[in-house]
Amino acid sequence: MARLEGYSALVTGGGKGIGRAVVDRFVAEGARVGVLVRSQSDADTLLAEHGAFVAPIIGDVRNWEDNVKAVQTVVERFGKLDTLIPNAGVYDFSDPFESIDGADMAEKYRQLFDVNVLGYLLAARAGIDALRASEGSIVFTLSSSSFYPGGGGTLYVSSKHALVGTIKQLAFELAPEIRVNAVAPGGTRTGLGGLPGDDRALEEIEGFDAMVAKTVPLGFLSEPEDHAGLYVTLASRADSRFITSEIIRSDGGLEVRGGGRRRKGSK
Ligand SMILES: NC(=O)c1ccc[n+]([C@@H]2O[C@H](COP(=O)([O-])OP(=O)(O)OC[C@H]3O[C@@H](n4cnc5c(N)ncnc54)[C@H](O)[C@@H]3O)[C@@H](O)[C@H]2O)c1
Repeated sequence: MARLEGYSALVTGGGKGIGRAVVDRFVAEGARVGVLVRSQSDADTLLAEHGAFVAPIIGDVRNWEDNVKAVQTVVERFGKLDTLIPNAGVYDFSDPFESIDGADMAEKYRQLFDVNVLGYLLAARAGIDALRASEGSIVFTLSSSSFYPGGGGTLYVSSKHALVGTIKQLAFELAPEIRVNAVAPGGTRTGLGGLPGDDRALEEIEGFDAMVAKTVPLGFLSEPEDHAGLYVTLASRADSRFITSEIIRSDGGLEVRGGGRRRKGSK
């Protein structure tokens, strides 16, 4: 049985990567999904695949009006908003802190935090009224960098740690009508990009696969689809109505990486 029949959702940065896998899975589970994307080509691809089940909105998560428009579009097209998924993000490719010139720090900080933190705050603020009306929930995309160093640089890791506090405070303030939870993926094969002018993409980094596989106890680099069902569980009132302020880690077991050798027979 479809687990999200009758639900409507909004995913930011849902044109590619983890967000796109969540859109695909939500549609497969019976939901209608608004998707805030950056480009017409992402919008066209979504419409070609999912037709009337999706409503792409072209915009920028750093912009308040675009977030409002995205929420309004979902409510107008699908009647309500049950699940908001702030997900759009950018990466710093683990650039060492000392490689950032002090004079450039404020600019780089703004570029990264404006997407990774402000973008989440604006989406949440724009969604509150509709989510309160539906007694819905927010499911943020966090990261293993919300808990551990080494998977990003100082700017990225700080931004993802900041979101832990965001979730706790919002879960506290918005209860009991709105639940606020998150999924925290570890290394995932996507084209996650950088700040303006940086054309690197995560999946193109040489050795990224092998590096993640070697680091995590479960021994492989995850795919976006590996995380998507967890968003369904946190969105579903049937499956998680007593859960708020929870962060589900989908990171191959970083918590138990330990210092010793893996068990015989592990990959
Ligand atoms: N790939 C990983 O290893 C990994 C691990 C943990 C967490 N994450 C997080 O997952 C989320 C999704 O990233 P992904 O890995 O799927 O990468 P991705 O690049 O495939 O997806 C990110 C999406 O955000 C969009 N985006 C970026 N800036 C935007 C803006 N200003 N306005 C609107 N959209 C914007 C991009 O267009 C893209 O579609 C991010 O928050 C990222 O930090 C990724």
